[in-house]
Amino acid sequence: MFQSLGSSLLVSFLASCAVAAVQIPPLRTANKSPEIVPGGYVVELESTGNGATSADFYSNVTSSNIDLTPRMTLDHMLFNGLSFIVAPEHDNASTVEVIQSFSSVKKIWPLRLYTRPSAQVSTSFKPKEVTSASALNKRAPLERRASADVDDYIVHQMGGVDKLREQGYAGEGMFVAIVDTGVDYNHPSLGGGFGPGFKVAYGTDLVGDAYNGTNAPIPDDDPMDCIGHGTHVSGIVGANNDPLGFSGVVPNATLGMWKVFGCYDNVGNDVLIHAFNLAFEAGADVITCSVGGRNGWIEDPWDVAVERIQQAGTPCTIAAGNDGANGAFDSSGAADSIGAISVGSVDSVDTPLAAARGNFILEGSESPFGYLPASLPNGSSSDFGTLSAPLYALEFDTTVIDDGCSALPSTTPDLSGYVVLIRRGTCTFDIKLTNVAAYGATKVLLYNNVDSAIIYPTITVTTVDTAMVTMDQGAAWISSLAAGLNVTIEMLPLADTGVYALQIPNTITGGTMSVFSSWSPTNEMQIKPEVSAPGGNILSTYPISQGSYQVLSGTSMATPYIAGVVALLKQINPSLTPAEITNRLGTTATPLQYNDGGSTYGYLAPVIQQGGGLVNAFAAAHYGSLLNVSKLELNDTAHFTAKHSFTLTNTGSTPVTYTLTNDGAITAYTFFEDMVNIPIPQYFPVDLIEVPGTIRFVPSTEITVAPGAVQTIEAHFTRPQGIEDQRIPQWSGFISINGTNGESLNLPYAGASGNLADLPMFSGSWKVALYDNNFYTEVGENETFVLAGPNSSYVPDRMFEMTFVNAMGCKIVHVDIVPADAHGLPMVLGEQVLGQFPGFPEEYLVRQQGFPVIDVDVWWNGTMANGSYVPPGNYHFLVRALKLFGDPTNSSDYQAVKSVPFNIKYI
Ligand SMILES: *[C@@H]1O[C@H](CO)[C@@H](O)[C@H](O)[C@H]1NC(C)=O
Ligand SMILES: *[C@@H]1O[C@H](CO)[C@@H](O)[C@H](O)[C@H]1NC(C)=O
Ligand SMILES: *[C@@H]1O[C@H](CO)[C@@H](O)[C@H](O)[C@H]1NC(C)=O
Ligand SMILES: *[C@@H]1O[C@H](CO)[C@@H](O)[C@H](O)[C@H]1NC(C)=O
Ligand SMILES: *[C@@H]1O[C@H](CO)[C@@H](O)[C@H](O)[C@H]1NC(C)=O
Ligand SMILES: *[C@@H]1O[C@H](CO)[C@@H](O)[C@H](O)[C@H]1NC(C)=O
Ligand SMILES: *[C@@H]1O[C@H](CO)[C@@H](O)[C@H](O)[C@H]1NC(C)=O
Ligand SMILES: *[C@@H]1O[C@H](CO)[C@@H](O)[C@H](O)[C@H]1NC(C)=O
Repeated sequence: MFQSLGSSLLVSFLASCAVAAVQIPPLRTANKSPEIVPGGYVVELESTGNGATSADFYSNVTSSNIDLTPRMTLDHMLFNGLSFIVAPEHDNASTVEVIQSFSSVKKIWPLRLYTRPSAQVSTSFKPKEVTSASALNKRAPLERRASADVDDYIVHQMGGVDKLREQGYAGEGMFVAIVDTGVDYNHPSLGGGFGPGFKVAYGTDLVGDAYNGTNAPIPDDDPMDCIGHGTHVSGIVGANNDPLGFSGVVPNATLGMWKVFGCYDNVGNDVLIHAFNLAFEAGADVITCSVGGRNGWIEDPWDVAVERIQQAGTPCTIAAGNDGANGAFDSSGAADSIGAISVGSVDSVDTPLAAARGNFILEGSESPFGYLPASLPNGSSSDFGTLSAPLYALEFDTTVIDDGCSALPSTTPDLSGYVVLIRRGTCTFDIKLTNVAAYGATKVLLYNNVDSAIIYPTITVTTVDTAMVTMDQGAAWISSLAAGLNVTIEMLPLADTGVYALQIPNTITGGTMSVFSSWSPTNEMQIKPEVSAPGGNILSTYPISQGSYQVLSGTSMATPYIAGVVALLKQINPSLTPAEITNRLGTTATPLQYNDGGSTYGYLAPVIQQGGGLVNAFAAAHYGSLLNVSKLELNDTAHFTAKHSFTLTNTGSTPVTYTLTNDGAITAYTFFEDMVNIPIPQYFPVDLIEVPGTIRFVPSTEITVAPGAVQTIEAHFTRPQGIEDQRIPQWSGFISINGTNGESLNLPYAGASGNLADLPMFSGSWKVALYDNNFYTEVGENETFVLAGPNSSYVPDRMFEMTFVNAMGCKIVHVDIVPADAHGLPMVLGEQVLGQFPGFPEEYLVRQQGFPVIDVDVWWNGTMANGSYVPPGNYHFLVRALKLFGDPTNSSDYQAVKSVPFNIKYI
């Protein structure tokens, strides 16, 4: 995948065109788009007649003398195919054509690599040697909940899961299949074992730990996690009531883990297709996968496989992607599959922090607290050892700004027997420690001066064991001390101390869309995600060897939450189809207000960011008012679908009157104002304009539906007026449908003004450029390059590479080599050309993917795609990129740009 312009390619490209009038900023996220494995292909075998077998395919291969190495057999009822790697000397367009022509072959695709959307990790305490979570309970047990069925976990309250838990639903009898990095099933909260009778009852390792996406998978039976991601995801689905105070959405469900990663980042789409089909065949009630890559096209075979599984009855939840920083048109595969329930991320209203655990004794009763030990100059952590000592505060004023910053008064007692409590602020930690050490102190707890996450304090005064606690904890202790009570602090050596989860309110972004959550639309104007769920700052299980717990952020964390909700919906109503589940999730969710990472605004976030909004599991399970759609896609101006019909069913036993209103979301401009020089979608946060579209409802805005009746409603949309259509404003909102039964549905809709087909792939300073390999300077007109030519051992002093960057996602790019004097040559899309540049035509490029698509320089040696050398002469490259919605066979649907002419000679 990509090729990413996020990293060195665009940077070098930019550096090289510093002469351009406007600098094009590089993409914000480093997440890659699916990279293609050299020579790798996935084939679907013909299913008509008796159908073809892999033996048929390989006999065709043998009779065509194609040298290839089989990789995977995909022998499934919904996808009968295989994957293989073609030997480098055979890896070209004509081999692909020959394979596509086999009677055994239905379709061939490139083998693409996906990755887990990179999760953001927050500060977590990792005990060095926790070998079992029982270490957590060495000291006072945590307060247990009154009953396992009462769910006071804040994350479950956000999504309405708590209310289903109160009704006694915990996923009993449901089977959730997870496709991820594996799971540490030995974690006590994940059942403590693997196989029949355990929580993780099914699954396997499809690839082996050495697999990195490119090498051959070597399966084994053990889906043990060697990364951590899959263990975190598994806990969000199904952890038992964990001593740290969280549980999975369906703690009583059975889990299956199809491990598709080794101990590295990448996985092939062949492995993903295999994993999804195995999970489907094993009878999963829902398949969930927090894997993807920047994409925006729905044609990848993994997308196709997901759509078939959904149609065959099994819902699939897939992470929307973590590329929100890039702005619109950056959706992820296979979340963008028509059949996938794509899941966006909402920040948790509380930010948990996995801290080290201490205890304090107040009036004879013992309670836990969390702390982060100081980092010492040698890289180790401050370790209090086994400690029991009274707490001493320098100051009872919890607003003092410079606590401990000056020498202490001479009335200060000997502090050597105490744990000294000092407020953070004004001077360095070292100054505070030096001042208390002067009175014998060897143990210090610093308490925070802001109500936000605590840090690992960095100190050099190594004679004083030091740690930080929260502002609230410090203030609570001080009020006890001020009341004349004694507080005794008890601590254990770090290796034994266990973990304590702190909950710190997130007043900045809590309860709004995570800024990293990817924005749609797809390149064909499909809306994603379907729904969003808590995914920003989520505490969950982690491999025991890595500390047992971790706080992670990502759509990876939101997705298993929705998988759990799907399991609850099916437990309550087993006959629901995937489409019905998607409709319920998308239309019962709560639309969220827009947040730019710093503030929340008084308008709704765009539907292309939030989908239906924050899931409401209770409403999705129990509402009697049902729609037969999950979203309305309005397309662009040229393809505007102004009229949409949908049905509203009242499954209740009394008539309900519904009021329909248009709840417009904020309109988001896709492009920068200077579209000519910066012809790319804006990065987050994008320019917004508060002009919504309007809707006329037929038959009316107030509709009474009899019990059991189905009412058809027409929504006639009008685009927002008076805004800059050429910047492709993405307008959207919700049809709010409020019933007299107290139920409130919100049907999301989104469209764009302007014509995507008119958008250039190259404009302003965006062009095809040639750069030489000496100083990476741009090549001028008619410069001469002396290349090695066939069978020559000459090493040229000067070569060049061809580069371009496509502004928008592009279905196909042709790069043809055209001589100055072209006559009698074959016609390609209406132009006489000598041949294609190696590696072209290239299909399904993501936004700003460009060429070269790998982070290496590709110096041109004079060969064409068919391997032959161009004769000496004068040439230019003709790059033709298909515009959005274009017909690949129609030359006028391409934007054509030429490189400068150049001369080629050989030695
Ligand atoms: C491929 O194999 C099938 C089945 O063995 C055979 O009928 C067909 O003629 C072979 N050749 C090609 C080029 O498809
Ligand atoms: C969940 O499973 C536990 C252990 O089997 C059982 O005691 C409890 O009743 C179950 N809870 C629900 C809501 O099914
Ligand atoms: C994957 O592993 C193979 C075999 O060890 C190695 O040759 C290849 O370079 C690795 N690929 C990546 C992308 O790390
Ligand atoms: C606090 O501890 C001191 C020293 O051990 C003791 O003298 C005092 O009585 C204690 N106060 C309370 C309120 O327990
Ligand atoms: C928008 O219109 C184009 C061109 O007809 C079509 O290919 C695309 O599928 C449409 N998108 C949606 C979401 O309907
Ligand atoms: C519909 O109901 C929701 C939730 O009760 C409420 O916030 C909203 O204002 C209502 N809309 C109208 C138009 O009454
Ligand atoms: C470059 O060379 C071509 C072919 O010889 C010629 O037609 C063209 O005029 C030249 N351009 C310049 C700027 O010299
Ligand atoms: C020339 O470039 C092509 C395409 O990049 C490559 O396949 C080929 O091996 C190169 N030839 C030589 C002699 O390096």
